Amino acid sequence: MKVLVVAGARPNFMKVAPVLAALAREGHRAVLVHTGQHYDASMSDAFFADLGLPQPDHHLGVGSASHAVQTARVMETFEPVLREEAPDWVVVVGDVNSTLACSLVAAKLRPELGCRIAHVEAGLRSGDWRMPEEVNRVLTDRLSDLLLTPSRDAHPNLAAEGIDPARVVFVGNVMIDSLFAQLPAARALDVPRTLGVERGRYAVVTLHRPSNVDDADALSAVFGALEKVAGDLPVVFPLHPRTRARAEEFGLLDGLARVRTTLPLGYREMVSLVDGSAVVLTDSGGLQEETTALGIPCVTLREQTERPVTVAQGTNRLAPWPLAADGVYRAFRGALARGRCAAGSVVEGWDGHAAERIAAALAEAAPGAALAGAGAAAAGG
Ligand code: UD1
Repeated sequence: MKVLVVAGARPNFMKVAPVLAALAREGHRAVLVHTGQHYDASMSDAFFADLGLPQPDHHLGVGSASHAVQTARVMETFEPVLREEAPDWVVVVGDVNSTLACSLVAAKLRPELGCRIAHVEAGLRSGDWRMPEEVNRVLTDRLSDLLLTPSRDAHPNLAAEGIDPARVVFVGNVMIDSLFAQLPAARALDVPRTLGVERGRYAVVTLHRPSNVDDADALSAVFGALEKVAGDLPVVFPLHPRTRARAEEFGLLDGLARVRTTLPLGYREMVSLVDGSAVVLTDSGGLQEETTALGIPCVTLREQTERPVTVAQGTNRLAPWPLAADGVYRAFRGALARGRCAAGSVVEGWDGHAAERIAAALAEAAPGAALAGAGAAAAGG
């Protein structure tokens, strides 16, 4: 079985690494395509090194642009690669523009090449169509032959959209495979000590959603909250390039006088930092999951979450919406009072073995094996 695996942006790399390793262990041929959506050393190369990812077989070098241009560039450059490789499977992960772009190309070439599309992290829904990620998720799921879900709550979402349950396989959360695999090395790095903060006595913040950082009022409200939090606990805030650029543009960086800002961290550094923290405040999807797996209280700076299992588990709470300095600060105090829970395999399938189940699901549904959804897709269903 030949499997082409697509990675484009930072949150993809920790999802593809365990999948590539599991495919190799099972003796399958894997081809890695990096679209280049993220390209900075800190957003891409550091992750390849930390996760032991092989050099990509193809680098599309698309870079940053508007959504339309970025998506179109991935499509244009991916099409000849897909024709050349003609794999049995195209595996896409997550919800970034590269995920949708490659799925679209593969769907159009599917009748000619006979390749199938598998989506890892299928079925998550925020219900918020203003988020580019929601558009990417829904459309990628619609185009996929095999929908591999990270949590059981994804299944009713897919059923509600009329997706044939025969195409849907629960595999668990592959991001947690990387987390558990890298945790010992991350702990050994002891990033809290390097940064001069005491384990269990600081907060970590990440922020990059356009709805939070592209709006001066929203960004200013969050920064106001962080200054209050910093009065109680040291705050470490690795700044996403988009967030740094907007904060500079709005003249808000000086408002973070008490907050410890850093450049984006590598994967192990970030795991080390989060693992030692008392509380995480974030608008990232991945961090909601990682804190749940580690038992760390998390405040999510979003109106809704496509990862409700993290809330059901008790580690994650949404900050009051719309975000305001007082509301975010109160949510932080609540999280601090909740404290850490016992870490471990808290959610079904978040056990470090999702990639093995993904490789098995691909092999079972490989060309030649009957796949219920393929007929419906071919019939335009
Ligand atoms: C993308 C994903 C988002 C994911 C996030 C993680 C989409 C629609 N969004 O959002 O789901 O959570 O990545 O980071 O795909 N930039 C750099 N260097 C880089 C990459 C980006 O400086 O290596 C800057 C560019 O100025 C760019 C901005 O960051 O305009 C935003 O990057 P982009 O990939 O367009 O979207 P993200 O906001 O990172």
